[in-house]
This record gives sequence, structure tokens and C-alpha cells, in this order.
Amino acid sequence: MKLLRLLFIFLSVPLFAQQGGMWIPSLLEGMNETEMKNLGMKMSAKDIYDVNNASLKDAVPHFNGGCTSEVISNQGLLLTNHHCGYSQIQSHSSLENDYLEDGFWALKLEDELPNPGVTATFIVRIEDVTNQVLTGVTAEMPEADKQRKIEENMAQIVQTSPKEAWQENRVRTFYEGNQYMLFVVETFKDIRLVGTPPSSIGKFGSDTDNWMWPRHTGDFALFRIYADKNNRPAEYSEDNVPYTPKHFLPISLDGVAENDFTLVFGFPGTTDEYLPSIAIEQVINTVNPARIAIRDAALTIQDEYMRADPKIKIQYASKFARIANYWKKWKGETLGLTKSNAVGIKKKQEKDLINQINKKGKQKDYGDLLPKFNQYYSEIEPYKLAREYFLEVVLRNVELLRTGYQAYQLKQVYENRGTQSFEDRRDNLVKRLEGHFKNYSKQVDKEVFEALIQIYSEGVNKQFLPDSFQNLNAEKLTNEVYANSALVNYEAAKNLFEGDAETVIEKLNNDPAFKVVEEMATAYFENVAPKYEELNLLISGLQRDYMKALLELSPKDARIFPNANSTLRVTYGKVAGYSPADAIYYEPVTHLEGVMQKYIPGDYEFNVPQKLIDLYEAKDFGPYAENGKMPVNFIGTNHTTGGNSGSPAIDAHGNLIGLNFDRVWEGTMSDYYYDPTLSRNIMVDIRYVLFIVDKYAGATNLIEEMKLVHPKKGKRGKKKKK
Ligand code: ARG
Ligand code: GLU
Repeated sequence: MKLLRLLFIFLSVPLFAQQGGMWIPSLLEGMNETEMKNLGMKMSAKDIYDVNNASLKDAVPHFNGGCTSEVISNQGLLLTNHHCGYSQIQSHSSLENDYLEDGFWALKLEDELPNPGVTATFIVRIEDVTNQVLTGVTAEMPEADKQRKIEENMAQIVQTSPKEAWQENRVRTFYEGNQYMLFVVETFKDIRLVGTPPSSIGKFGSDTDNWMWPRHTGDFALFRIYADKNNRPAEYSEDNVPYTPKHFLPISLDGVAENDFTLVFGFPGTTDEYLPSIAIEQVINTVNPARIAIRDAALTIQDEYMRADPKIKIQYASKFARIANYWKKWKGETLGLTKSNAVGIKKKQEKDLINQINKKGKQKDYGDLLPKFNQYYSEIEPYKLAREYFLEVVLRNVELLRTGYQAYQLKQVYENRGTQSFEDRRDNLVKRLEGHFKNYSKQVDKEVFEALIQIYSEGVNKQFLPDSFQNLNAEKLTNEVYANSALVNYEAAKNLFEGDAETVIEKLNNDPAFKVVEEMATAYFENVAPKYEELNLLISGLQRDYMKALLELSPKDARIFPNANSTLRVTYGKVAGYSPADAIYYEPVTHLEGVMQKYIPGDYEFNVPQKLIDLYEAKDFGPYAENGKMPVNFIGTNHTTGGNSGSPAIDAHGNLIGLNFDRVWEGTMSDYYYDPTLSRNIMVDIRYVLFIVDKYAGATNLIEEMKLVHPKKGKRGKKKKK
């Protein structure tokens, strides 16, 4: 058995080696289609993306700009992750009506909850516009001029390309400026919450299990897209009706087995697969350690308060989850980059490229690429580090500094654009602050402030720091600021922002928190940002040329895919376990047994609702179990990243089999280096979703809307047992 498994792992290396990549859906014909069919796909490229007929892409909208979702009924029922709908679920929650804690199910349309501001964006059409974008751009131009010309051309295309009145044109670059694509998109704005399991299912395992396998999380939530009477996008209105989609995904009840073909369709956010080795070394040695240390400090403080106070727990749940998520990811990423020897592998690839450059006589075009990379990346390192500190401390982790920074921007707006801009921005800011202060604890934030400005003053190069930080007494400053600033509660803040521009700015200038932010921002914008921007522009130019060289000089069968850029992509692979270390092999599917094994009564991460325990004990799984066991999560070799949350996992025939929500710990370095032996994406088995909706929540109204199918019918039962 063990031997067989080893043999299997060994034999499947060449197969795995072909995997990875996030591909542009309009360009699958050819290499990808062949490869997908070899992996078992029974559809054609046109079934996935087609302009003239309904295809899978018409069922896969971008959810609120950051996640992916899929339409699963002819009435616009929308499935995405619990963590993607988290802040909406939180916003409808209170101590009395806690949907995070208890879940929520709308049993009829009237009960569905509107979420102002939330969007679902469909891709109508994709077109290559590279030639138009690069018109008038010459190799001799300085980088900044090239960039300006390109932006001009892009704006022109956006303005003049044909589209319907309610649609929008967007141009995005691929391969670091070597290819440009136009996207015609349609954005729906009335998205209502339909159902969510309690966090003890939807977030089961929480941060302890996050980025980990084996996993047992029912990370899903249901929304519904509403449209106007003509089925077009419209702002929220009582008169809106459920959207009739061009296509929706049928749902397979037949489940998954190891080696089954899988396709994940969605909107991966950012990857950097073509960085030179020196950049990877900086991620490992400089950038990630700084970010991790800052967040370590912030999270430790928040965690303590959240565990002690249920009100703070609700207030900080969403913020904490967001900060903890990448904190943990960076840790795994550093480990994975080290373990997979990403730096060594990149160095070898660089050597190969240099050989090719020499062999093909391309020294003039590409000969100084790698030396220049080394030069610029070394030069940028201190600036990059200082920038990370600024972003993490001022913009992301200390709420008061963030609020202060918004006030700082307001002052800038007044100075640069005058009274009208000031007033518009001020009104927006005050509106936003109302929401901010609902979830604000001065005590928590104060402790975070003190810890983080201490770290800031120690971690940032002396010559980049404001004078007042040179001999910082963090405790004294913290006490002063939190005792006297108006930006620590809503009433005082609202008061501060009242009056004409001059008055408001005078009040700001006297506010101690504002003073700190202004000093930090001024030092940053004078000492760090200009040099950082300058070097970064040069590096972008190099990355573009490096990419061009790779495209031109790599072997014909090299699988060079564009970095993720929040556009719609297809990634595919197989259901597969993995072996992260000697003698360890992880199976690809988990079951409800595992939830019970992890169960810690009353625990904040591993509690299990009584109803689920009862269903488990009665084995009351409806038609959703397999051989008497209820599958929960599974993994595969699909290359995904942040933004792929909520992406549909689709079978060989185009049916929904799962819901993407995470990656495994050992493989999170795939944003820089995809290692097919270690990188796996994690999906919720769709049958677990159905089981929870049907058996746990009793929301049979929703099940009835869906189209449940049996694509493997006939073949079942014949399957060999492994
Ligand atoms: N790691 C997944 C993702 O990147 C899930 C995040 C959910 N958040 C959490 N802190 N558990 O989004
Ligand atoms: N949970 C991630 C998201 O929010 C997806 C997991 C990943 O980064 O692979 O998109």
C-alpha cells in the first residue's frame, strides 16, 4: 500500500510538472485545451469562454472586486465564501441578532438582506488590444514617457471601444506590459444576503487551521443578484427582481475522487512568478520578517481583548481575520520558498536564460538585464523596507494612524484642489468614520499604537524617520495622543471636522494624533517615496524586458503564463494528495469525522453546533454522503491565489463540484514559485454545502432552485477502491 503510494507519487511527477498557471479564458484553444483534455476534461475551450453563446464565464462574476462567486440557479442565486461575505454578515449582526454566531437563512425572497456597495461583475467580452496600446511607444523612449503614452492609449481605447450604456470598458496589462487586453464588463449593484452558516461551520478552525490541510471548514455563504425589470444592473431598489443569468452552474452530486480533472475559474489577484532570485531573497530575508513582526505585535494585543470581551470580539472579528490572514500566509510563504529552494531554482533559470541570450546573439537586447536587476534591487531594498513599515504601521494596523492619515489626505486635497474638493472629501470621511467607530475600541487601539510605533522607530532607518522619532518615548507619546486627540471617538471627530476648511485644518494642526501622522507621512514622502518610485519604475521596465526575453527565448513547450492581475483566469489540475515531508502523505479528501475529532466544546475556533453533532450521530446526510461518510473539503493541483476565494471548482463536464477557499501551508509560496509537488488549493466539497443548506438549515427552498446532476452515473460503484 505504502509502496504503491510512493510509486504513484514518483510516477506522477512528470504529470504534475505540467501543472500550474492561471490562463486567460479567451486564449485556451491550442496548448491548454489539449492539456486539459489529457487531464480528463470533456468540454471544449468554447464551453468555457465564448462571446456569442452562453458559456461558463457567464456564471462566474467577480464578487465585490476581491473575491470570486458563481451563479447556481436561474434566479441569480450566488455562491461565494463565508470569509468573502464576512463583513456583510458582520454588518447585519448585533449582540441580539448575531448572524456570525448563529448563521442566517432567508426562507423567502422578502427576507434577503441588502448590502449597499456590494457588487458582482461579469465579463462580457475579452479582446487583445496590444497593438493599439503600444502605438507610438518606441524602445528609445525613457520609461516615464513610455508609461505616459501607454496610459494615454489605454484611456483612448476605454473611451472609444463599443459597449452598451450599462457596461464598462477596462484595459489590463499581461506579461508585464508585453500584452494588453480589453475587458467589457457588467456590474450588478443590488446583491442581497441569502444564507450563511454559523462561524462554527463557515469559519471552523479559524486562524489555527487557516492555510492548513487537513481542513474541515464549510467556508460558504449565499447571496442573490438583483436586476431591474429589464434584467440589467441597477442600484438597490425594492422593485428590483432576481437576475436571470445567461448561464448558471449545475451541481454534481457525484463527488470527487483522486485524479479527477478539476478546473477553477476566478479572479486571482496578484502573483509575481517571474521575479529574479535577488527579489525572492528580499522577500525571505527582509520584507516578510518585517511584516510578520509588526502583525505579530498587533494580533497578540487584539486577540487578548477579543477572548476576554464578546463585544470586542464582534467588533474586531473582521479586522482581526484580515490582518491574521496574510500574517500567517507570509510565514508559510517564507518556509515554502526556503524549502522548495526557490532561490536556487530561479538562479538556475537565470543561468539558462543568460546562456540562451548568448547563444542567440541577443546580448545587445538583454545582456545587461540581470546585472541591472541586481543593482536596482539592491538599491531599492532600504526604501522598500521603509515603505513596508509605513504601509503596515500607518495604513493597516493602527486604527488611529489610519484615521489620522485620512485627515492628512484631506488637508492635502484642500491645499492642492481647493474648497469644493475639501468639502466633498470631508463629508465622505465623516460618513466613513461613523462606521469605523462602531467597531472601535480605544483601549485596544492604544495598546497597538504603543507597540507599533516602538517597532517603527527601531525598524526604520534613522535617516528616514521624523525628528520626533529619533529618541522616542513610546509610552509617553501614546498617553498624550490618546488622552487628547479628537480622532478616538465619533462625537469628537465629527466636531473636529465641522466648520470651513481653514478652521478644520487649524483644529487638525493642533490635534496630537494628526501631528504624529503628519510627521510620519512627511518624512515618508520626502525621504522614501520619491526614490522608491523612481527605482520601482526602472524595475518595472526591467521586468517587462525580462518577461519579453523569457517569452522569446524559452523552449517552445515552456508553459509561460501571465501573472495574476485580478482578471478572470482558468486554472486546472487534478484532485491530488501530497507529501510535505518524509513519511507524511496527506489524503485529498476530509470528512465530517474530522470535524468531530477537532471539536473542542465552547472553543472560539473549534466549537461545533449541536445540530451538526446530532446530524452526524444520526448519520442523517440526505443524498449527499458517499459510502456513509460526509465529505467536507478536498485539495487539488489548481494554481490559485488570493481573489480565487469563492471560485467554483468545476468537473470535466462543467458542473460545480466545489468551492475554492484556501491553499495548503507548504504550498503558499506559489505566488512566487509554484511547486507542483507541494502546492495545493483547498476547496469545500459542494455536497457539504448542500448538506448544510438542506439538512442543517432546512433551507430546502434554495435546494429546489438549484439543478442537481449525476454526471458519473453508471460509472459509480465500478470505481476501484484505492
Ligand atoms: N486563507 C484564506 C484566504 O486567503 C481564508 C481566509 C479567511 N480568514 C481567516 N483569517 N481565517 O482568504
Ligand atoms: N482565501 C483566499 C482568498 O481570499 C484564497 C486562498 C489563496 O490565497 O489561495 O482569495
